[in-house]
Amino acid sequence: MAKLDRSLLIAGNWKMNKTVNEAKELAEELVKGSNIIRASTAVLCPPFTVLGAVASVIESTVYRLGAQNVFWEDSGAFTGEVSPPMLRAVGCQYVIVGHSERRQYFGETDASVNRKIKAALHSGLTPIVCVGETLQEREDGKTHDVIKKQINGVLEGLTDEAVRSLIVAYEPVWAIGTGMTAEPEDADEVHAYIRELVNIAYSPDVSQNLTILYGGSVNESNAETLLYMNNIDGALIGGASLKPESFLQVISTAESIVA
Ligand code: PGA
Repeated sequence: MAKLDRSLLIAGNWKMNKTVNEAKELAEELVKGSNIIRASTAVLCPPFTVLGAVASVIESTVYRLGAQNVFWEDSGAFTGEVSPPMLRAVGCQYVIVGHSERRQYFGETDASVNRKIKAALHSGLTPIVCVGETLQEREDGKTHDVIKKQINGVLEGLTDEAVRSLIVAYEPVWAIGTGMTAEPEDADEVHAYIRELVNIAYSPDVSQNLTILYGGSVNESNAETLLYMNNIDGALIGGASLKPESFLQVISTAESIVA
């Protein structure tokens, strides 16, 4: 059971990179190449400090803006946090939640990710919800168990409508920033499993309309075989999203698939 509509979404996760000037330069390069974007959706997720600068550069282009994290309260005494309405006000439509680096270094759990998803949706942001197993878990044959626990945990208490409004990103932890990509068939198998979990918890309709991105060392050389897979609806790209030629090349690959 694959996704019904084959449009593809390519998101760039810039992580903790780029000062204001560097970010503007990268965004300007991306805008120069943006005439190739027709049927796919391209999202840029720079750090908080440059969201405003990137928003100005991509204004009135096809690029959409996303953040890399969000807190679940709207405002108040939460030093260092950024709220969903703040992200909306700076021009964000998307926000990455539960990235494995946030789980690993900043103590995020399925429960906190669940709160962030609810808050993001409440403010009209589209959460890009990350799940994925570690190398040890994969080697121990626990991939499905881990994915099931994460998906059920992060989606806890969400309505049909809420799940229709979010995106899932499958990012095997061992493939992130390592140059090791999952084999397209292996990635597709996990995507199909995520769809099956959503089918069981929700409905075939919700599951078949769910966008599931793959992430983990995606670049211009491996994007084609990954994006051709039935259950892979796009990519969340770290390292290669900092190189305009690479990111644009992945978008161009996506365009040739959906055309
Ligand atoms: P990578 O990162 O493409 O550098 O592996 C992907 C991600 O962490 O979202």
